[in-house]
Amino acid sequence: MTRHSVVLGGPDDLGGWLAAAARLAAAGIAPEAVEWNVREETASLFGAEPSPLPAVEPVAAPQAFRDLARLALCHGDRERFALLYRLLFRLQATPGLLSNRADGDVSRAQILAKNVARDRHKMTAFVRFREVAREGEVPAFVAWFEPEHHILRLTAPFFVRRFASQVFSILTPAGSAHWDGTALTFGRGAARHDAPDGDRLEALWLTYYANIFNPARLKVDMMKSEMPVKYWKNLPEAALITPLIRDARARMQTMIATPAATRPARGPGYAPIAEPAGDLSACRACPLHAMATQAVPGSGPDDARLMIVGEQPGDREDLEGKPFVGPAGQLLDEALRRVGIDRNTIYLTNAVKHFHFEPRGKHRLHKTPTRAHVQACSPWLRAEITTVEPDVILAMGATAARAVLGREAPVRASRGHVLHDAEHRRVVVTWHPAALLRLTTREEKRVAWAEFLADLRLAHEIAEGSPFTSPEPTNPDGHPADALAARGISGLPAGSAGR
Ligand code: URA
Repeated sequence: MTRHSVVLGGPDDLGGWLAAAARLAAAGIAPEAVEWNVREETASLFGAEPSPLPAVEPVAAPQAFRDLARLALCHGDRERFALLYRLLFRLQATPGLLSNRADGDVSRAQILAKNVARDRHKMTAFVRFREVAREGEVPAFVAWFEPEHHILRLTAPFFVRRFASQVFSILTPAGSAHWDGTALTFGRGAARHDAPDGDRLEALWLTYYANIFNPARLKVDMMKSEMPVKYWKNLPEAALITPLIRDARARMQTMIATPAATRPARGPGYAPIAEPAGDLSACRACPLHAMATQAVPGSGPDDARLMIVGEQPGDREDLEGKPFVGPAGQLLDEALRRVGIDRNTIYLTNAVKHFHFEPRGKHRLHKTPTRAHVQACSPWLRAEITTVEPDVILAMGATAARAVLGREAPVRASRGHVLHDAEHRRVVVTWHPAALLRLTTREEKRVAWAEFLADLRLAHEIAEGSPFTSPEPTNPDGHPADALAARGISGLPAGSAGR
């Protein structure tokens, strides 16, 4: 058997790997006949010369495979190149292979991709920049990070988008990334002592962290899994963790003992606020708190794989203090049942935590929250997403989509696809159930309901572990609004066109 040796430019050389793999697969070269090497790892070995690639038209790798390879190829596992080639090779005879989760190669590649996605998430959460003095020049920032996988090239653009106007470098043992304000370049690896240790920003970080630390929410195990101890050494705030944990119980007792009367008052004429259930209920970041009965926090397990985000609490939610308990919630429950999702396993929340409405006689008419409301509430949503760290977020309606993605994402154009937020989390956009309740014609209801179920299914499949899901074709399930109406549940009040 003739052996083919491929030498890649680096451990994360997706372009080089894909170019070689697509030609080898087109020429029908068996996976066992291909040897994958990385230039810097093999430079000193004999026999790591690349073989000429077959002169054939390369195969086209499907998008789902490319998405998988983009992540899995950055894993530290030495077998990843061979594994992915085996998959590409087998895909030629079995185009539906990627949806077979029981297949050993498919599931192994998915695990690698998931590990890499998690490592990237940790990097976006735990990189801390320190200022370095550069006389007469704009300040520059340097961060040290030790990723588990080869994620630097893939993840550096995230920091460029976030800090485009700064000059910074991220140093890791295997490579470094540099942004000079206009171009992103990559260089050699560095050592821990190449990155500075302390600066004036550190004091700011420490004050900030001590202030946002909420003793009532302290769960030490959860904190350690979210912020693994191995990252602590590079986080300035880690120095505070032990004393803050020690003092947490006493601070929580003080919070509980503080009478509600000492907290800011409600507006006149509204129901008294329920006993505050934590910091959210004391939020005064926008004027909505003055009209609403209470803030409605998200609910569900904090290790849920699927997070569903709505717009804002409605009338019933405002009174009960729980999300999705009114008519829209009942429609959502029906959809969850049809797709086979147990509501107790998902985390449900809203982009805005207070009810925005207009009093009309005895009624309170829903009003779409403004951009300013969504903006003011975004730290709460971010905190929920960071704590739960779901595999996928289903954003229901345009307001939720904007809040989650940080950009406009009209539902009609965005739904049915897997999108990504700024931190590369997977996001599926769909209709808001309240919008479904307001549809009038039978045909509109049928189509929108089928789309809603398909989007929910897509999110569910991702949460269950398959990154290769595609929306299902239009579903013939009937719209359940009529059944809800029969039980005395009608559509929500008009006035929420933005959903
Ligand atoms: N609509 C939402 O967006 N959220 C709720 O909690 C209820 C209705």
